[in-house]
Amino acid sequence: MTTAPTLVIGATGNVGRQVAVQLTERELPVRALARRPEKANLPASVEVVPGDLSDVDSLRAALRGVDSVFLMWPLMSRDPAEAIADTIAGSARRLVLLSSAAVRGDSDDAISRVHRAVEEAIEHTSLEWTFLRPHGFATNTLGWASQIRESGVVRGAYGSVYSTLIHEADLAAVAVTALTSDGHVGAKYDLTGAAALTQVEQVRVIGEVIGRETRWEEVPREVARELLLQRIPAEYADAMLDAFAHLASSEPDRPTSTVEEVTGVPARTFAQWVADHAAEFDPAAR
Ligand SMILES: NC(=O)c1ccc[n+]([C@@H]2O[C@H](COP(=O)([O-])OP(=O)(O)OC[C@H]3O[C@@H](n4cnc5c(N)ncnc54)[C@H](OP(=O)(O)O)[C@@H]3O)[C@@H](O)[C@H]2O)c1
Repeated sequence: MTTAPTLVIGATGNVGRQVAVQLTERELPVRALARRPEKANLPASVEVVPGDLSDVDSLRAALRGVDSVFLMWPLMSRDPAEAIADTIAGSARRLVLLSSAAVRGDSDDAISRVHRAVEEAIEHTSLEWTFLRPHGFATNTLGWASQIRESGVVRGAYGSVYSTLIHEADLAAVAVTALTSDGHVGAKYDLTGAAALTQVEQVRVIGEVIGRETRWEEVPREVARELLLQRIPAEYADAMLDAFAHLASSEPDRPTSTVEEVTGVPARTFAQWVADHAAEFDPAAR
């Protein structure tokens, strides 16, 4: 009997790429939806098909013969959420959604609103769904890479705020477990990395792992916003700064043990993540 492929949406992104790789490592068939298949650069065994989430017909075509789906939401808009959820439910049985821990609170920023709407749309289908609700991604610190390569000094706001950055490989491991084994239907997994570190400490750990002197320089929120706008849209920059402001005035973010409970393996440390991405911070490697 041949196993139906898993459709991975966002397979060229941080988490989706890991999901595709980890499924192929288990010798499971993977189909990746990609806007530019020729640039996907995925393992040879992955079937890459053209498609775009803003074009539901392309999604429907990519779903043919698929039993399970990994979905991440790359869109700024929540409008197509119902159409996409219904289209997936029309073909597949199981879905793992990369959502966000931001859905849990009462925050009303753009990111929380979009993720809430996507979760609700999926809950209204007959899909066997699992929601991954991560706190911050370790990949967020790649936003500091050019500053670290150039001077070792990271300028930002809210340096004393703790976050529990998670490795994308751990998120993918949870996703692959939920896609390939029973007992995860209806779960909303609260996912973090191994420990809570302040932003100041994260910059120090990067320096320790790459063997260079690095330090945090606190700047006013407005200056930090201008720096963020050089690489992300204003809506996301404001949501990110609002999230840090919220964390600064509330209980510090704390690690959960969900990665280990689901996968049987403890979450990777931030130092491990830096070691896996050291080349990004190394001026000589660019
Ligand atoms: N960063 C955090 O701290 C954090 C925390 C919690 C939740 N999240 C959520 O995690 C998600 C981001 O995950 P990530 O970092 O793995 O993503 P990512 O690295 O930013 O990758 C985005 C992916 O989406 C694809 N994509 C973009 N537009 C598309 C479209 N119209 N149709 C189909 N595919 C499209 C991109 O493919 P192309 O190759 O075509 O560009 C790429 O594969 C977001 O929903 C975010 O809100 C993030």
